[in-house]
This record gives sequence, C-alpha cells and structure tokens, in this order.
Amino acid sequence: MNNAFNYLDAAQQAGQRLVPSLAEDWPLLPAVRAEGAYLYTADGRRYLDFTSGIAVTNVGHGHPRVLAAAREQMEKFSHSAVGITLHEPLLRLTEELPKVMPPGMNMFFFGNSGAEAVEGAIKLARYVTGRPGIIAFEGSFHGRTYGAASVTSVKSKYRNHYEPFVPSVYFAPYAYPYRCPLGEDEESVLAWSLGGLQRVFERLIPPTQVAAILVEPVQGEGGYIVPPRRFLQALREVCDQHGILLILDEVQTGFGRTGQMFAAQTFDVQPDIMAVAKGIANGFPLGATVASRELMSQWSAGSHGTTFGGNPIACAAALATLDVIREENLLENCRVMGERFLEGFRQLMQEYPMIGDVRGVGLMVAMELIEPGGKKTPDGKTAFDVLQSCLERGLLGYMAGIAGQVIRFIPPLNVSQEQVDEALAILDDSLAANRA
Ligand SMILES: Cc1ncc(COP(=O)(O)O)c(C=O)c1O
Repeated sequence: MNNAFNYLDAAQQAGQRLVPSLAEDWPLLPAVRAEGAYLYTADGRRYLDFTSGIAVTNVGHGHPRVLAAAREQMEKFSHSAVGITLHEPLLRLTEELPKVMPPGMNMFFFGNSGAEAVEGAIKLARYVTGRPGIIAFEGSFHGRTYGAASVTSVKSKYRNHYEPFVPSVYFAPYAYPYRCPLGEDEESVLAWSLGGLQRVFERLIPPTQVAAILVEPVQGEGGYIVPPRRFLQALREVCDQHGILLILDEVQTGFGRTGQMFAAQTFDVQPDIMAVAKGIANGFPLGATVASRELMSQWSAGSHGTTFGGNPIACAAALATLDVIREENLLENCRVMGERFLEGFRQLMQEYPMIGDVRGVGLMVAMELIEPGGKKTPDGKTAFDVLQSCLERGLLGYMAGIAGQVIRFIPPLNVSQEQVDEALAILDDSLAANRA
C-alpha cells in the first residue's frame, strides 16, 4: 500500500466517494487482512467474521489451497474469453461440479455473480419453454440487475423508482412458518403458500403460460426463512403437472452452506435449473446457471454469452474449494456446528423475550427480534443495536428480513466449536446490553 495513503481517513470519507445506494450504513470495516474466520482492520482490531462476506468465503478467508490454486493459474494466464479460448480449470470444473450437484445438473453457463446466474436461469426458462411467465415469491432476493430485481420482492425500496420491470413476473407467498397468518404448523403454512400459488394461476396467469417457478430453497435476505421440506417438494409436483421449470436459486444456500453441498439435497428436491455463485470459488467472482444437457442443448448458439464469465483464476479457485469441502469433511462440520449454534440460540430464546424465533439449517442460522407486546412486531432497531454491540465485542454478523429484524450468522464451514461458543457468549452479552 502507498504510504501516503491514509486508509482510516479514506474509510471515514468512503461515503463521499462510494454511491450511497450501496450499503444500508452497516458497518464498512476497513479490512487489511483476513484469515480463516478472522478479519483484521486498519485500526488494529480482530473480528470473528460470521458473515463470510455474505456466504462467500465458505472455507474461510485465504484458505491456503485455494490461494495456491489461484496463484498457480494466475502465473499462466488470467483471462480467457470463452468463445475465443478454452482453459483447463474450466473444463475440469465442468467435470467436477456434476459429481456434487443434484442428478443431471451437468451443463453450465459460467458468469461472474449471483444476479447473472439468475438472469441466465430466467432467460433459459423463457427460451426453452416459449412461455413468458415467471413466478417468484414474496420476500425473495435474487440480485440487483434488471431481470434479477424484477423477481425480487424482499423490500419495496429495492424496487422503488425502477418501474417498469421485466414483465410477466408474479409473486406467490413463501412458506414462512413464523409469520404465516393461518398458523405456524406445517399444514397451515402449506395451505397458505400453496393456496396463494393456486390463486396466481386462477386469477393472474394460467400455468400453461408459466415458464418457471423461481425459488430460494431457504430465503436469504428475506430473513433466513426455512420452509417445510414439503413446500419445495410440492413446488416440484406443481411444475411437473404443468410443464413448468423449477429454478432453485442456490446462490446463498449452495456449496455446503446447509450441511449438504446444495439445499436441493438437504430438502430432497430436484431442480430443472439452478443458479449458483457466492461460495463457489471462495471469494473469486464466479457464478453459474446450471441445467441438464437435455435442457441446455435447446439454448441455441449465440443466444446468451459473456466476456469475463468462467475466469481461469476463479475456476481454479473453485476446483480447490470443492477439494477442500470434500477432503476436510466440511459438510459434517457444518451440520454439527450449525446444530450447536442453533441450540445456543434456543437457550438464548428462553432468556430474552425479544427473540421471537430462532431458525436455521446448517451454518445459516438466525434469530428474529420482536417488540414487546406479543404481536410479533419486527424490531429492526434492536436487531441493529445488538449487531452493533456484537461488533464492539469483536463479532461480525449481519441483518436480514423486511425490517432488518433478523440477525443472521454465516460462519465459514470450518468454524471451530470454540469459535461458535465465543460467538454465543458475545451474542448473550450483546442481547443483555440491549434488553428492554
Ligand atoms: C439468493 C440470492 N440470489 C442472488 C443473489 C445475488 O448475488 P450477487 O450479489 O452475486 O449478484 C444473492 C445475493 O445476496 C442471493 O442471496
């Protein structure tokens, strides 16, 4: 770094130079180094990073094997536009990924981000079915580009001033047990969400005009909402009944996050198309739209493309990331540590009435804060304050949910028991400090 550059001063002034649309004033730490589950900042502090850069550095910051693979590829060449040249990491990745993906997911369009993977999925679904309609879910988040924003409904502020969106998108209610108007039991949750989907078919668009149902198997930005397994399986049945394609957005849930390589496996549901990104290359920008060869081969030459997608360094990093997840037995660690963390949340819930719900799967775990009064009113203010208190004590978490009322933690899959326990202790202190 240039010595004349004063990092801390510049970080203070970041708001003058970076667009305000980027962040919701949280927390913009001036990072200088990161290793494993730890993040180090310019003011000499160390944080337990339980965000993993929002579910990206799944095998921990700077994993030596991922870095070595990236470094080795970088020495050879760092860019190759697919369509002009091919490269070994790309071809090897197309061999390795199908081994860990749901059956038949064996053809790939590589891009650079989650939003791009979703764009590809929507375009593919419309292209191969010849139908216009896309059904997404209330509370969904699929990204910020136009197509992805058009199927996003987590907050109206993500949509405000951008109308008109990509047409023929409809929203059905997600299976959100804690806030289901009919009741929290599985039957009520399914009746509410699937009934809403049927109403979309009856009143807004007949199923014969629907190309795809697009769903996050666990809603991420929406608040780490874990639906009943039967919800996703019922969507599969609806799709089969009407010739609709099921798109799973596994951008946040993929690459071990839910305790299996993909949530499709955790929830035992077979997608037609998947969108993946985030954890795929442990921090190098890469994403993919994935489907079967049978489906993808209908996407004719020239109808979709990219310059940067499938970057060689990112593909090399992705291959190493897959090796690390498999060889270091991280899925097992994810399940065990996730259960330990969630059990800690359950105990905290006994003590703090402001915790309305705790939930999670694998190492995507969250608590939803509510105002006193028994009405389940979302309490985004307290959630923010608790996160701030965690930060002061050296733990980095993040918010989610419509009002920011959900505190979520997304530690690396190789997090240790000691680190989970330390996070729980910090969280306990932080909740106590903000008790009403
Ligand atoms: C489920 C889901 N889909 C898509 C995206 C968009 O990914 P990106 O920010 O890489 O475009 C995100 C990002 O948070 C996400 O959580």
